[in-house]
Amino acid sequence: MREEIRVGMVGCGRISDLQSLGYRAHARSRIVAVCDTDAARASERARAWGGARVYTEFERLLADPEVDVVDILTPHHVHAAQAVAALEAGKDVSLQKPPTRTLKELDTVLDAARRSGRVLRVFENFMHYAPHRKAKELIDAGAIGTPISVRLKTAGGRLTDGWRVEPSSMAWRVNRDQCGGGPTTFDHGFHCYQMARMLIPAEVERVHAFVHWTKLGTDAWYDGPALVSWRYAGDPPRMGSWEVIASLGMRVRSKYYVSDDRIEVHGTEGILWVNRCTGQLLEEPSVVLYRDGETRAFHDLETDWADSFRQGGLDLVDALLEGRQPALDGAEARKTLAFALAAGRSAAQGREVTLAEVLAQT
Ligand SMILES: NC(=O)c1ccc[n+]([C@@H]2O[C@H](COP(=O)([O-])OP(=O)(O)OC[C@H]3O[C@@H](n4cnc5c(N)ncnc54)[C@H](O)[C@@H]3O)[C@@H](O)[C@H]2O)c1
Repeated sequence: MREEIRVGMVGCGRISDLQSLGYRAHARSRIVAVCDTDAARASERARAWGGARVYTEFERLLADPEVDVVDILTPHHVHAAQAVAALEAGKDVSLQKPPTRTLKELDTVLDAARRSGRVLRVFENFMHYAPHRKAKELIDAGAIGTPISVRLKTAGGRLTDGWRVEPSSMAWRVNRDQCGGGPTTFDHGFHCYQMARMLIPAEVERVHAFVHWTKLGTDAWYDGPALVSWRYAGDPPRMGSWEVIASLGMRVRSKYYVSDDRIEVHGTEGILWVNRCTGQLLEEPSVVLYRDGETRAFHDLETDWADSFRQGGLDLVDALLEGRQPALDGAEARKTLAFALAAGRSAAQGREVTLAEVLAQT
């Protein structure tokens, strides 16, 4: 039984402050090392997190015997090589979504995890967001009968509001080779595809997507508006859709990215809405349930998006202390990645794509 979980954070960019919250809140975990190729950024984070050792070379962090878990928060093209090296160095690994750019890359990571016997978890924070967890709990308890349809909507707003995001944090995202797909439909999409899989308990079978690439500046692109639809396998017939729209003149109240996500799930006996996530677009209660002609609102859930990161960090530490696999495990992450890749292929080729086809070509 481990007494304490000692974490090495790799990549001290935009999201690392939120990713650190759980490790700093848990009584039995500590951030002992940080690594970033940008030395100033790494030193700043180390100071803010209580004086962790600072590395600018990933290999030196791996050689640090005090590091038990490596949390990888680097751009996507770096993920697979770093995750494999960390597992081979005997470390447990938390890998930010999307885990890799391709299934082939992900399989090298899954092989390394199997060979090393170390824990690999892919971190996706929407699944830890309290309103989403409440929705899942209500659906599992039969609150809307059998879930038969899910609709997600991502609404972006005026870019001058919200978080300050460094141009360097966007540069690799709009480079499809480095990101693995579009910054919205692949990178952000991983969250939405995961929600579609979490809230409807069935496998996604076929996907169709329209994605328009909008030019925002000299080197800035955004892959939206976009509309992705899919059908789940089996009976009853179940379908889902996700729409992305940016209203560039609209204010989205947000402490973080200037966008918000809303979800609507219909069942055979009721409807469930989750009215917010990253931002605070609507004032409605975060979760609303309609059934038998009555509406029930849930007002008392933690709605700060940052808390989903905190919960994810706490869960990883608890899982490692208890010797259980934390979510997402490799097999689940692989299905969500296949879903994201199917959407990208559908948009590029203008046709419906089956997940079987994507999975067969790895
Ligand atoms: N869960 C979420 O909601 C969420 C939100 C934002 C980002 N992310 C994910 O987190 C990861 C990082 O995103 P970000 O927005 O913080 O990116 P970012 O560009 O702001 O930060 C990445 C950091 O990695 C460093 N880096 C690059 N190559 C490196 C290397 N080889 N070794 C060490 N450091 C290196 C960069 O200097 C930079 O500081 C991505 O996987 C992204 O998809 C998740």
